[in-house]
Amino acid sequence: MILNEEQKAILNGEKGETLAKVMESVIRYGELFGAEKLIPVTSKYNHLVTSFGLKALGPVYDLMTKLIDDGVVSQQKFSMDPRPCDPKVPKNFLQNLIFNKIMYTRQDFYEEQLQQLGLMEKDAFTCTCYMDEVGNKPEKGDILSWSESSAVVYANSVLGARCNRNSGIIDIMGSIVGYVPYFGLVTDEGRKATWIVEVKTTKKPEAQLLGSAIGMKVMEAVPYVKGLDKWLGTKLDDATCTYLKDFGAATASNGAVGLYHIDNLTPEAKEQKESLIAENAQVYVIDDAELQRVYDSYPVIWKNPDAQPKLCFMGCPHMSLEQLKSWTDKIEAALKEAGNTKVLVPTVFTAAPAVIKKFNETEYAARLEKTGVIVSYICPLMYMNNPLCGKMPVITSSNKLRTYTTARYYTDDEILVQITKGGNR
Ligand code: F3S
Repeated sequence: MILNEEQKAILNGEKGETLAKVMESVIRYGELFGAEKLIPVTSKYNHLVTSFGLKALGPVYDLMTKLIDDGVVSQQKFSMDPRPCDPKVPKNFLQNLIFNKIMYTRQDFYEEQLQQLGLMEKDAFTCTCYMDEVGNKPEKGDILSWSESSAVVYANSVLGARCNRNSGIIDIMGSIVGYVPYFGLVTDEGRKATWIVEVKTTKKPEAQLLGSAIGMKVMEAVPYVKGLDKWLGTKLDDATCTYLKDFGAATASNGAVGLYHIDNLTPEAKEQKESLIAENAQVYVIDDAELQRVYDSYPVIWKNPDAQPKLCFMGCPHMSLEQLKSWTDKIEAALKEAGNTKVLVPTVFTAAPAVIKKFNETEYAARLEKTGVIVSYICPLMYMNNPLCGKMPVITSSNKLRTYTTARYYTDDEILVQITKGGNR
């Protein structure tokens, strides 16, 4: 790799042995991907993925201690992925025991370390750090050192920032040293689309289903999506950004998409139009039948496929303020129609602490609480990734949660029926 004088000096230990090791890790990581140089990280804040104080993460705590002791901390403040636990989320005695005494015993200690390393603020724990209420929203063209896949795909696609799908820990290393390797999605060439997706549905496609279909088809490639502006319009307003958040997370988790372009909508597609499409790009046509095929292909891995759901999780990635409000309206109306006053399945909506705070300042908060829905800052995946919770019949409209856990996917409309009126789809 070709290094400039400053980078060479860091690597040669002129700014300390620990920083030299951090630089070496970033260089080796880049070399694995054929990067020939490093480029400066330019965003105001960073975002880190490893947010959970799992007992088994001893080497991570040791590394953090070493960095803190040697004063090798990030110049950028950072936000974190969501916390793994929240007392508000229903748990039985055994689950409580597992969470607090076996799994996440180092949470407080780890959060203390994160504060010392440069956490933006005490409650900056969310995967939707780019929301206005949270404040970690990169500018167009910013170079990032993030790794949370749902946040990376959003920052690249909707905000026009530049970031690879890095791995955890490399995110903080890039931030500390102030450089990331130049390859993939930070290059102009790497941002070209090698797939054209033609959306030809007769109604607005479900964000999580469309994203899933595209992710499974194109895998880690960049898709250029045509025909979606017909349903989303050409402005990135709150509702559209919310749609793209959920769509992108599904592309990133059901495949490994780190960037997508939406014709006439996302910043680079608006500016560069079809010149963003690489030569010989492949074509994928999505109509109603294709979405149905994808939906029907999801395996149901519940022990009893006819079980009544014990829990419903919405908000993976975390919900936006707009989403919390519109779901409040939808749940109230559906409950009224069914003659019910409270949701029939214990339901948890998850959102960033800062979004919850804003939501609590609106009249919607009391209305949603009345329906029995719990609002939490938890990461549903962290909640479910243990043998006890894994056995529970959980429903969700998150395709990321479906992919990584035993949760069963339903569309938003089906979820609404199940939680307000009961019964399966
Ligand atoms: Fe966010 Fe956790 Fe889902 S990090 S995207 S809520 S898995």
